[in-house]
Amino acid sequence: MAEQKNTLFDRPGGYAMPTGTAEANREAARSKAPIVLPGDSEPSYVPADSILEPRFVAKDPDARVYVGDCRDVLPNLPEHGKVDLVFADPPFNWDVPYDGWKDDMSRAQYERFTYDWLDACIDVLSPTGSLWVNIPDDTAAEIVLHLKRRGLTMINWCVWHFRFGQCRHSSFILSKVHVLYFAKSADERTWNPDEILEQSDRASIYNDARTMAKETNKGMRVPMDVWYGPYLGRIQGNNKERRHGHHNQIPEAYLERVLRSCSNPGDLVLDPFLGSGTTSTVARALDRRSIGVEYSEVNAQSAWDRISNVGMVRTGTTGASSAIHAKRGARKGTKASS
Ligand SMILES: C[S@@+](CC[C@H](N)C(=O)[O-])C[C@H]1O[C@@H](n2cnc3c(N)ncnc32)[C@H](O)[C@@H]1O
Repeated sequence: MAEQKNTLFDRPGGYAMPTGTAEANREAARSKAPIVLPGDSEPSYVPADSILEPRFVAKDPDARVYVGDCRDVLPNLPEHGKVDLVFADPPFNWDVPYDGWKDDMSRAQYERFTYDWLDACIDVLSPTGSLWVNIPDDTAAEIVLHLKRRGLTMINWCVWHFRFGQCRHSSFILSKVHVLYFAKSADERTWNPDEILEQSDRASIYNDARTMAKETNKGMRVPMDVWYGPYLGRIQGNNKERRHGHHNQIPEAYLERVLRSCSNPGDLVLDPFLGSGTTSTVARALDRRSIGVEYSEVNAQSAWDRISNVGMVRTGTTGASSAIHAKRGARKGTKASS
C-alpha cells in the first residue's frame, strides 16, 4: 500500500486540530470557563461482553495475537489485572491509510477513543504494572492529564527524537514523538536500570578517569530521557527491520529499552495496537510472554509471521554510546566511539 502524504501537515500548530479550534480555545480563555476537553462530552465506548478467541497462539514463551478492537478485547482477557507492562502506539488520527481502521475521527471522538483505550489498559495492568504510550505533540497533553486523573504516576516524559521528519515551511520540522512512562505504583514498579545502561559521555567523549574508577558499571549510565542515536531512527528505506505494508513501525531498540527496563523474563507484556508486531517480537526474544491486539486481519497475519518466524533482527545493540561530539583529543573529523 503506497503511503499517502497528508497535505494538512504543512501548517502551523497541531496536526489533528480541526479548523476553528484555535478560535474556540481563545473564546474559552476569554470566558474563563473551566477547561473541558472535547472528548469529555462524548459518550464512552460500550465494549463487547464476550471473550474473544485469539487468532494466533505460540508457546514458550507464550504469545497470543487477537484480531479486533482493543476496547473489546482487553476487558475480556483472562489475565485482567495481571499484565505487567503495556506498551501502546495508537493510531494518531492523522488520516493514515491503515488497512481497515479509519484514522480520521472528529477531534472529540478521537479524544473519547483515547480515554476509552487508556482506561482499558489501566484495568488490565497489575497493581505493580507500568504503562508506556508513544504519542505525538497534538495528544500528549490530553493523555498525561487523563492518566493523572486516573491516579497513575508519571515516571518519565521521554522524547523519541528522529531526523527524518517530513519537510515543511510553516513551522519547525517535526522530529520527535513523546514516550510517556506511567506506573500504577511508583514504589513497587519493576525498574531494571542495569539492563539498559549505555556508554556515558564522560567515558566516550571526555576521557574522565572518575567514571572508569567506579566499582561497578564503569563508563556506563542510564540513558537520558531524550532517545536518539544508532538503531533508534525511524524505520524507513532499506532498513533491515522494515516490514512491508506497515506504517509507523517502531525500532526494535526502542522496544528493547522499554521491555528490559520495566519487565522481567516470564512477565506478561501487552500491546493493544500491535501493527507490525514489534512489541511481541522483542518480547519473545527477551523471554517475556506477550499479548497483542490488532484491528486489521492483514496486519495481524503479517505481525504473526514476524513474531513466530522472523524474530528480532537487531540484537546486542544495548550499551552503545549516543554521544553527539567526537572524543576529546581525537583527530579532527574522527567520530566519537559508538
Ligand atoms: C501506529 S500503528 C502501531 C505500530 C506498531 N507499534 C509497530 O511497531 O509496528 C497502529 C496500529 O493499530 C491498529 N489499530 C487501530 N485501531 C485499533 C483498535 N481500536 N484496536 C486494535 N488495533 C487498532 C492499526 O491497524 C495499526 O496497525
